[in-house]
Amino acid sequence: MHPARSIRRAVVPAALIAICGGVSAALAADAPPAPQEPLPVALVHAFNKLAGGPHTGFRANHAKGVLVTGTFTPSKEAPGFSKAAHFSKSVPVLVRFSDPTGVPNIPDASKDARPNGMAIRFTLPDGGHTDIVSLASNNGFPVATPEEFLQLLTAIGNSGPNAPKPTPVEQFLGSHPWTAKWVTTPRPAPQSFGTAAFYGINAFKFTNAKGVSHYGRYEILPLAGEHALPDAEVAKADPNYLMDELPKRIAAGPVKFKLAVQVAKEGDPTNDPTKLWPADRQVIDLGVITLNATVKDQVKEQKALLYNPLSLTPGIEASDDPILAARPPAYAISYTQRGN
Ligand code: HEM
Repeated sequence: MHPARSIRRAVVPAALIAICGGVSAALAADAPPAPQEPLPVALVHAFNKLAGGPHTGFRANHAKGVLVTGTFTPSKEAPGFSKAAHFSKSVPVLVRFSDPTGVPNIPDASKDARPNGMAIRFTLPDGGHTDIVSLASNNGFPVATPEEFLQLLTAIGNSGPNAPKPTPVEQFLGSHPWTAKWVTTPRPAPQSFGTAAFYGINAFKFTNAKGVSHYGRYEILPLAGEHALPDAEVAKADPNYLMDELPKRIAAGPVKFKLAVQVAKEGDPTNDPTKLWPADRQVIDLGVITLNATVKDQVKEQKALLYNPLSLTPGIEASDDPILAARPPAYAISYTQRGN
């Protein structure tokens, strides 16, 4: 779809409400309220607007990515933490690394291409699957609720070069100190997807076979260590350096990550991804993800694939985090918009 048309589609309903609201109120006090876009639709439209999209065939966010396969081998401790089937038996994984934004050709070294994403699908012994959808952000999420996320995306979209000062996004950041801190946190471009650390950010509830439950947040740590691209190489980096490097690295040998989980103590907030838990919380090793092949038909397979952070399995449940709850409906809308 042409960018201008998608932007109109994104803003017209709100404009109509603004223009028509007073008239309808004057005509009929008991008239139903003017329709508003449901929140997940509005979120996807806000991403589209920022990306000059929608770009047919591509995700509304994390449009650019690379898909690889491998296995997950659980640690000895994993079954004691959760009875989930993949925590007691090795299973295949399908992993998509990505750049954020809905811009399909964003240069990998661009500042806007941070934080990167890592989505993991575990194929379970019964043929089903469960997913982890994580970000290379070690300081949580910029906002606490999906409503605030829409305000932030809308403010960014309305802060073009001609916006009056202070711009909407300057106003938002002025009244949301955590978001201001999050967006100004330095996030160097990784040397490779195989040298970046990823975080689940949203909390989940894990239950073992004895019925003992704990809340936790995933950490996915590269066994090669965390390495950033040296500053001198950022400016001259190929626009696809991350997407191109991973298949080469995998062809030369397996790329491994430790899957771990930071365990909450009683009272640690599970409903707010802006509230980090203290660094001294126990971290349990759940196992190793070993990536050893690149998917052949990238375009077709990526388009057909829909990760879902709430695709869970007995032994793992959602927390009461409203950001987590808001994700699946938005992802499903983006999936349909891609042309599936
Ligand atoms: C309300 C908050 C959020 C909204 C509205 C949102 C929206 C989206 C959308 C629309 C997509 C494209 C989905 C698709 O077409 O398959 C997406 C992808 C993605 N999101 Fe989110 N997101 C949110 C929060 C998060 C959080 C908290 C994380 C990580 C902890 C995250 C990580 C990702 C990743 C890694 C992808 C790419 C998945 C893939 O490779 O297919 N998002 N997001």
